[in-house]
Amino acid sequence: MHPIIHAQNLHKTYAEPGKAVHALKGVSLKIEKGESVAIMGPSGSGKSTLLHIFGCLDKPSSGFYHLDGKDVACLTDNELSRMRSLKIGFVFQRFNLIPQLTILANVTLPFIYQDLNRSDTNDLAQNALAQVGLGNRIHHKPNELSGGELQRAAIARALVTDPLIILADEPTGNLDSATAAEILALFVALNRHKRTVIIVTHNMQVANSCQRIVNMIDGKISHS
Ligand SMILES: Nc1ncnc2c1ncn2[C@@H]1O[C@H](COP(=O)(O)OP(=O)(O)O)[C@@H](O)[C@H]1O
Ligand SMILES: [Mg+2]
Repeated sequence: MHPIIHAQNLHKTYAEPGKAVHALKGVSLKIEKGESVAIMGPSGSGKSTLLHIFGCLDKPSSGFYHLDGKDVACLTDNELSRMRSLKIGFVFQRFNLIPQLTILANVTLPFIYQDLNRSDTNDLAQNALAQVGLGNRIHHKPNELSGGELQRAAIARALVTDPLIILADEPTGNLDSATAAEILALFVALNRHKRTVIIVTHNMQVANSCQRIVNMIDGKISHS
């Protein structure tokens, strides 16, 4: 069995005017199918950059990254989007819900690369929203929901395609501690079904609920 995530010596450099920012400076990590992993570390240490590469939202500048046994460097942008749509559920730090669309419509968006009809995707989206406790808010727009509800909607959108991997970037960062605990319980439940869950977090309670903690400092893993 190959690891679901296998990264070796990943570097990521952003070209900024007048300088280059080295966000990742040689990150190697293996994550097995079904594992739950917390990524911790100070702001600017490269956590989001690493998560975006894992989620095929971005490519490394150099290094090797295999997702579920496939070398993503060989994929075209279109294949990469397909891979992301089929295997990855991503919970963004700022939710990234589309304000003009209802919660239900937002949660059907990940099906864009899948050949399913509208009524099936609506059913799946309704199920996902019920799973996160938002069954009664599906026709609302994002600006009509609370922070905790938006976070739940973002999680529903990540799990609606039943992905192998859920990647979440500080999913409890903007929540009060009671709501954070509810969201945490959702992630623990997600991990139970052999899904791999990787969470960037500053919250020790969230980190301790994961099987493994990976610490990042200055673009590198300090220990894991
Ligand atoms: N799109 C980008 N363009 C330029 N620099 C970036 C970009 N994204 C991140 N960075 C820089 O890369 C470094 C790591 O950022 P990030 O991965 O967001 O860290 P973290 O999530 O740990 O706070 C920071 O110095 C940040 O400013
Ligand atoms: Mg970040």
